[in-house]
Amino acid sequence: MTNPRGGAPSGVPSGLATERGNAAPSSEVSSMFDGISGVYDPINLLISAFQEPRWRRCAVALTRLRPGGRAIDIATGTGKVAADLHRRVQPGGEVLGVDISPGMISVAERRFNGRPGLTFVVGDALALPAPDAAFDAATIAFGMRNLPDYGQGFAEMRRVVRPGGRVVCLEIARPRSRLARILRAWFGGIVPVIGRLAGQGSAYDYLVRSVRNYPTPEAIAGIMRDAGLVGVTWTGMSGGIVTLHVGTVPSDQGAA
Ligand SMILES: C[S@@+](CC[C@H](N)C(=O)[O-])C[C@H]1O[C@@H](n2cnc3c(N)ncnc32)[C@H](O)[C@@H]1O
Repeated sequence: MTNPRGGAPSGVPSGLATERGNAAPSSEVSSMFDGISGVYDPINLLISAFQEPRWRRCAVALTRLRPGGRAIDIATGTGKVAADLHRRVQPGGEVLGVDISPGMISVAERRFNGRPGLTFVVGDALALPAPDAAFDAATIAFGMRNLPDYGQGFAEMRRVVRPGGRVVCLEIARPRSRLARILRAWFGGIVPVIGRLAGQGSAYDYLVRSVRNYPTPEAIAGIMRDAGLVGVTWTGMSGGIVTLHVGTVPSDQGAA
């Protein structure tokens, strides 16, 4: 796919998509997130109009995890979803946060260091460093749109979750409602400005472009089903600007 709006500076991912996923190599995406790891959290809160903690809480609730449970948070970034999952599975539960960017993982480790059962590791969402059926649930928040192969991303989530466990994906959506289109216009206008003020203009141009090229909620649901998940549903939040998808790993793995 060519870029109709002009290319990104070299070394910065374009935000374009192929038929399978993000067009950028994961090494480029990883370096970009290394570069913004120090400013990621405050900017994220600002560009989500302070909605991000609520979206996160909804994603964690959808896992239906219980105390003593085990979860994996993929593309964990600075580890906030992983920490919320960890709180939910106490006492006795365990959470693994995985991210391809060493810079983001260092921020997560510094922030949440010392919580027993909460571990962070550098790793690729397309080849998760975990055995089959090791977790009761898997989450990915604002990470799927960065992967070069969405289908492989969901297949890996399915692989590491036990039969009957849940796979949850929170992502910025392509809105259709009028409110969502207004919010999107705000997002498209304000995000690059905030990124530039923080000295990270090209990274936040990438954010806007990658959202524009992400599939519709229906298409994502189809990709999840193709990856073998069942009972796939989705909900729009904040006027449809973000979407929460959830699917279940079939109890009879052979049937999927
Ligand atoms: C927008 S951030 C989201 C971080 C966090 N989940 C949150 O909700 O704030 C996207 C994250 O995806 C990570 N990422 C991108 N490609 C990845 C891959 N192939 N495997 C694992 N993580 C990846 C990036 O390093 C980055 O930390």
